[in-house]
Amino acid sequence: DKIQPTVFVIFGGTGDLNARKLAPALYNLYLEGWLPEQFSIIGTGRSKLSDGEFREKLLNDINQFSRTGKVAPEKWDVFCQHLYYQVADVNNADTYKEFGNRIQQHESEWKTKANVIYYLAVAPNFFPIIAENIAKSKLGAAADRVRIVVEKPIGHDLKSAQELNQLLMRLFEERQIYRIDHYLGKETVQNIMAFRFANSLLEPLWNRNYIDHVQISVTEQLGVGDRAGYYDGSGALRDMIQNHLLQLLCLVAMEPPINFNADEVRNRKVDVLRAMRRFSPEDVRLSTVRGQYASGWIEGKEVPGYRQERDANPDSNTETFAAVKFFVDNWRWQGVPFYLRTGKRMHQSSSVITIQFKDVPHSVFPAESAEGGHQNRLIISIQPEMSIRLQMQAKRPGLEMILNTVDMVFDYKGTYTTQAPEAYETLLLDTMLGDQTLFMRGDQVEAAWDLIMPILNTWQNRKSLNFPNYSADSWGPESAEALIARDGFHWFTLP
Ligand code: BG6
Repeated sequence: DKIQPTVFVIFGGTGDLNARKLAPALYNLYLEGWLPEQFSIIGTGRSKLSDGEFREKLLNDINQFSRTGKVAPEKWDVFCQHLYYQVADVNNADTYKEFGNRIQQHESEWKTKANVIYYLAVAPNFFPIIAENIAKSKLGAAADRVRIVVEKPIGHDLKSAQELNQLLMRLFEERQIYRIDHYLGKETVQNIMAFRFANSLLEPLWNRNYIDHVQISVTEQLGVGDRAGYYDGSGALRDMIQNHLLQLLCLVAMEPPINFNADEVRNRKVDVLRAMRRFSPEDVRLSTVRGQYASGWIEGKEVPGYRQERDANPDSNTETFAAVKFFVDNWRWQGVPFYLRTGKRMHQSSSVITIQFKDVPHSVFPAESAEGGHQNRLIISIQPEMSIRLQMQAKRPGLEMILNTVDMVFDYKGTYTTQAPEAYETLLLDTMLGDQTLFMRGDQVEAAWDLIMPILNTWQNRKSLNFPNYSADSWGPESAEALIARDGFHWFTLP
């Protein structure tokens, strides 16, 4: 009952994000009783649809994409009464007048003021015009009740991110602006904070004295598919590292916040980005690797190389793989490398954070008794496996003293029977509640851009590439192995 009557206005109502993520998330929130009794969802777009056609479309989308499977007709019949559609030309002031009228209608029906959430599920070039028009039509003025949600990409580089932030902050208060990084809504990602800050036994070890290095690996089997129109101007560094992977790094590296308030948590996270070492062109040469996938075979099917994907430039130099070795220059992390890698068309889809602890100072067991390798690792598996494992050495049963690596495992599936909510369910609920903890503040976005700009600039100036340089279904270019092998390690993968 903390949630006020709410009107959602979804720009891009007939688009992919609404179909795959937003509509299923809202429906599941409804099913689980998280939506207020008085709510309405107004989808908008250029297509001419009636309310009925819009409801029909979302029904199909939800049936296809919801984690809870096909909708129950008796639930749907009630839910769909809250769905509306409005044809919209976002450039036209009348569109916004129409929104204003509809919102007022709901409010007089409900006999109370409503919270209004404008969700910009549209291409980023529409953000400025929509934001300007909402503000001009005075639809955003009630700062307590009106929120605006934007998705990445927040800018294409530092300068454009600053411009967009300045524009949004001129029109709205920061507390009204919800910048989504959907990784922060993932159940396993939220658990990093719980795991670190609700257990006392980790903190004494969580520093340069005991941790050798950290790996953050987010690999995908999928290629860019039909998104090359966007992706070709972006690449893996912008698409994944600037946001999702650096946010994971911040959660691993941040200092304990004094409480769980949005700004307290975000202050500690932005401290990490500010402490990260900036790259010289020489550092870029030594500490970064980029790659692009060639064609190959996945599960018996031939898949095209990146340059052959629809809408990709046939000579494209856009990277579909990136690996970077970062440092965080502060007391806790001085000298501890953070290896980040991400790529498309890789051998496995998995997102894993590996904390590699230092070796024991002196081994009392004969060398031949150990399996070899490094003794202790904490492996936080974000997806598809949802688990935390602590790897240790133990004696193998038998008459000889032979050591083995064994896992202590916390596995979500084995521990909980309830299905975890999707990231968008968490994030949409938090938007309704007015809790910004899991959203990106403007300064965080800019700090991340500031960090990667030297890499982007140096890459742009150094064009002589041997792309494509890894085949589909591989672990990326060989130089990415070399990047970490030089320091005596290899990329950890879950079996
Ligand atoms: C998006 C990227 O932000 O994240 C995509 O634009 C990527 O390229 C996706 O595939 C990965 O998200 P998830 O939740 O599937 O790991």
